[in-house]
Amino acid sequence: MNSRNHLAFLLIFFTTIIFHPYTTSSSSSSTTFHFPTLSLQNLSLLGDSYLRNGVVGLTRDTGVPSSSSGTVIFTSPITFLNPTTNSTASFSTKFTFSIQNPKGISSSGDGISFFLSPNNHSLGSPGGFLGLVNSTQLTKNKFIAIEFDTRLDTHFNDPNDNHVGLDINSLNSIKTADCSLIGIDLKSGSYITAWIDYWHDGNNLKVFLSESESNKKPIYPILDVDIDLSLYFQEVMYLGFSGSTEGSTEKHFVTNWSFTSFGIRHPKPRIGNPHNVSDDTVAKNPAIEVPNNVGDRNKKHKKIGLAVGVLGPVFFCSVLVVFGYVSVKKWRESKMDMNIQAELLTGPKQFSYKELKVATNGFHSGRIIGHGAFGSVYKAVFVSSGATAAVKRSKHSHEGKTEFLAELSIIACLRHKNLVPLQGWCVEKGELLLVYEYMPYGSVDKVLYQESGHWGFLKWNHRYNIAVGLASVLAYLHQECEQQVIHRDIKASNVMLDANFNARLGDFGLARIMDHDKSPVSTLTAGTMGYLAPEYLQYGKATDKTDVFSYGVVVLELCCGRRPIEREPGGHKMINLVDWVWELHSKGAICDAVDKRLNKEFDPDEVRKLLLVGLSCANPDSEKRPSMRRVLQILNNESDEIAVPKMKPTLSFSNSLPLSIEDIIVSSLDDDEEDASAKASTNANLTVPVIRIDG
Ligand SMILES: *[C@@H]1O[C@H](CO)[C@@H](O)[C@H](O)[C@H]1NC(C)=O
Ligand SMILES: *[C@@H]1O[C@H](CO)[C@@H](O)[C@H](O)[C@H]1NC(C)=O
Ligand SMILES: *[C@@H]1O[C@H](CO)[C@@H](O)[C@H](O)[C@H]1NC(C)=O
Ligand SMILES: *[C@@H]1O[C@H](CO)[C@@H](O)[C@H](O)[C@H]1NC(C)=O
Ligand SMILES: *[C@@H]1O[C@H](CO)[C@@H](O)[C@H](O)[C@H]1NC(C)=O
Ligand SMILES: *[C@@H]1O[C@H](CO)[C@@H](O)[C@H](O)[C@H]1NC(C)=O
Repeated sequence: MNSRNHLAFLLIFFTTIIFHPYTTSSSSSSTTFHFPTLSLQNLSLLGDSYLRNGVVGLTRDTGVPSSSSGTVIFTSPITFLNPTTNSTASFSTKFTFSIQNPKGISSSGDGISFFLSPNNHSLGSPGGFLGLVNSTQLTKNKFIAIEFDTRLDTHFNDPNDNHVGLDINSLNSIKTADCSLIGIDLKSGSYITAWIDYWHDGNNLKVFLSESESNKKPIYPILDVDIDLSLYFQEVMYLGFSGSTEGSTEKHFVTNWSFTSFGIRHPKPRIGNPHNVSDDTVAKNPAIEVPNNVGDRNKKHKKIGLAVGVLGPVFFCSVLVVFGYVSVKKWRESKMDMNIQAELLTGPKQFSYKELKVATNGFHSGRIIGHGAFGSVYKAVFVSSGATAAVKRSKHSHEGKTEFLAELSIIACLRHKNLVPLQGWCVEKGELLLVYEYMPYGSVDKVLYQESGHWGFLKWNHRYNIAVGLASVLAYLHQECEQQVIHRDIKASNVMLDANFNARLGDFGLARIMDHDKSPVSTLTAGTMGYLAPEYLQYGKATDKTDVFSYGVVVLELCCGRRPIEREPGGHKMINLVDWVWELHSKGAICDAVDKRLNKEFDPDEVRKLLLVGLSCANPDSEKRPSMRRVLQILNNESDEIAVPKMKPTLSFSNSLPLSIEDIIVSSLDDDEEDASAKASTNANLTVPVIRIDG
């Protein structure tokens, strides 16, 4: 990191400390250590492990055919869970290891693992048990481990003798990846550096591997698992490495190790309340989890905070500059591996208008890559870094700036691998610009309905994967965020595809900003019409269930390759996709709905499952729609499918009106307090012509 980044880090750090006094207390449960070489001071050795010249050897050459296993553990327990708030830690670790076999010997040992364990004394057996599992009591030891496995043990379903895998309480890996894919041979004897990042908010664990001298973290992880480890975290856990041999002379070394954990939250008032904010919300609330990893500095910070209050901003600035300078120097001198944190700190930032103007060639029309309700989207190329981005330029003046900034502060703190990441924003010259990561393939509808096949065809596994990704991010927005976010505008053109054809949901939250200018109803076009739930058309009130409906429509589009509302081929009748699929379902021929262009290259069970999920989400009765979490479980085969009635349920709003007109007005007004936009829509909603929904 250069000194500018250091300073930026410090600034964020300071603003966080000063404006959010509660976050300081959480530093006690964050841990950071860095061992350029290993020493006995902080480590305990179990089994056959030993320390020599700052390097830990996990196993000994016991002489064939006997075997060896050993473990090294960081002596202090580390907090991973706060039982009063149920908040759990994120962590990031980096270490270098080497697995060596004598020349000319093809038989190999077993490999090593990095693990988290609830205790500091369990040692596993030698042989195929990686020093993690006791061979006589296979289920006794509890652990979360990343294995670097150099032996094919078929009874543990190993894919080959050169893989990484995530193991929880068992050596049957939850997911594995073949290291040869990235040209790494674990047994080669070279020094291999591994990075393991677990991001709690994203429920995601990534493992990166590099064999190169440069020690640079690769861009792509070798192993990427969506998993909520909080289910397995204990309040405190021990960290370490284990290794084993199996009648061989394989040697296992760990040469250096750094680790940081952060993110355990203590009870605190909700920050960034979007509905009652001052203009400087964004500046005050970076809304990004800042690792409070510099525990012993907190006392200083507190004092500084006090001084600031007393002596005013001038003193604050000078202290900040001096302290910043000193810290930068100190930081540079210390061998602290800040790269780990740097990667976790890349949150949205403010861009200058000039910067964006230059990057988009003066908002040149040739740079336009899309149009949306929000305005035009330009491709931006930042010459200095060579980075590309997509810049959304609003065509509306944003007088409700406060509201916008509040909304932005929510968007800015969302983190999920299936969201288009917001890189920054710019509010200048009465214009509003949002900077997003550039998505090379554009949106799902473009790829799905393209004529020329320019980008290649969306194969079934891509389509299924998009449905899973979209369910995952919606479950996150609806149920896992600190504050529930309703997207309000889910449609195929808002689902982007990244370089690996993963779904990336875009434009979240913006729907609400738009409401300020236009009521949702007036934005209705034939295109978005098909995505709107009946009760939304009726009452204009967006809920998580209206998002589920739109999701169902997108899923049906993915399966059928048809738009939500399409003109009958050769005719003039408009066909509603949901009705069409439901009709096939009634006839017991739901699989006939599948996109003919797939040429039967798909798994019929998956097709059936996805179509039924689509229908159950698009149920006219909002009560019957599943939650996004349930959908995700079904798609991941963790939950049973939902029975879909043979006939599409009919809804009659006039008969079973859940609310009286007064109630609707009142509830809209209630909303109003939270949602200034509702005002504009209230009137419009009530004047929407009643849409008949019949079976
Ligand atoms: C870790 O050890 C390897 C091998 O000895 C070395 O190449 C690397 O530079 C070390 N990394 C750090 C951060 O000390
Ligand atoms: C390592 O042990 C020493 C001595 O016990 C202690 O002062 C130091 O804080 C420990 N380091 C870490 C990272 O726990
Ligand atoms: C934490 O989780 C436990 C078990 O799931 C639950 O019983 C408890 O009520 C939760 N506490 C809070 C504060 O959410
Ligand atoms: C495990 O932790 C306990 C409590 O901190 C300590 O007394 C014991 O010595 C530790 N055992 C090992 C093998 O480090
Ligand atoms: C496995 O468990 C048994 C029974 O508790 C114990 O005797 C043995 O030492 C354990 N093995 C290892 C390697 O810890
Ligand atoms: C907004 O905050 C101010 C001061 O913090 C408070 O007086 C006011 O009641 C709040 N308004 C709402 C609608 O919560």
